[in-house]
Amino acid sequence: MFNPDHNPILRYALNKSLYEQFCAGQDADEVAETVARVKDIGFTGAILGYARETPTEMPQNRIQPTPEDKADKDISDWLENSLETARLARAGDFVALKFTGAGSLAHEQLRNGSLPGPYLTESINRICQFARDRGVRVLIDGEHDELQTTIDKWTLDLAARYNTIAGKAIVFGTYQSYKKTMPEVLVSHLEEARSRGFTLGVKLVRANLTQTPATTPPPPVS
Ligand SMILES: *[C@@H]1O[C@H](CO)[C@@H](O)[C@H](O)[C@H]1NC(C)=O
Ligand SMILES: *[C@@H]1O[C@H](CO)[C@@H](O)[C@H](O)[C@H]1NC(C)=O
Repeated sequence: MFNPDHNPILRYALNKSLYEQFCAGQDADEVAETVARVKDIGFTGAILGYARETPTEMPQNRIQPTPEDKADKDISDWLENSLETARLARAGDFVALKFTGAGSLAHEQLRNGSLPGPYLTESINRICQFARDRGVRVLIDGEHDELQTTIDKWTLDLAARYNTIAGKAIVFGTYQSYKKTMPEVLVSHLEEARSRGFTLGVKLVRANLTQTPATTPPPPVS
């Protein structure tokens, strides 16, 4: 009943309320219009993310794809959609990427703490290169706690590759400032950036006011 995929009334209500508020558009023209409007109001940039809409039912009587084909298809869909999103962004805007959007194989690799597989690596690089060539920045979204350490690792490797101009970042990681460990994480990432010689791109997510504050003051961050 509470799953919008199975409940048309809920789906309609969500579409009318949340979706139309937070979705920049359902196609390229709508997105371009929304971004132009936002900039008219006085905002200087936009962060565009691709919202994945999963099909509600599988077509009948079709040969089931092998898991390998399915994984490749998930990655290629994610790649195409991310490139399309970057194409809609203008110089100075951001495209937000969610690694788990690349499918269950990506999710498993994140959970296992492994490196992204060859096709996923190639896809991520194609998105970053495309964005860089257009002056668009790439924001790697924060995700579930258990995946975040590996997401950070992948993000730092990308930053080392793309953030090579001092003081200018193409790839940004997300840092949730309300987490108690965040000052240490940020310090260690800054140190890693310094020693590997790249610029750290930081999106600091605001404090969650419902969370109790850390009892010991965090170390100073320079
Ligand atoms: C949401 O509403 C728009 C029209 O306002 C419609 O084109 C679209 O298909 C709807 N999406 C869903 C998921 O119901
Ligand atoms: C993740 O780890 C499990 C258990 O060690 C292993 O079976 C699986 O193949 C790994 N998956 C990937 C994508 O590396």
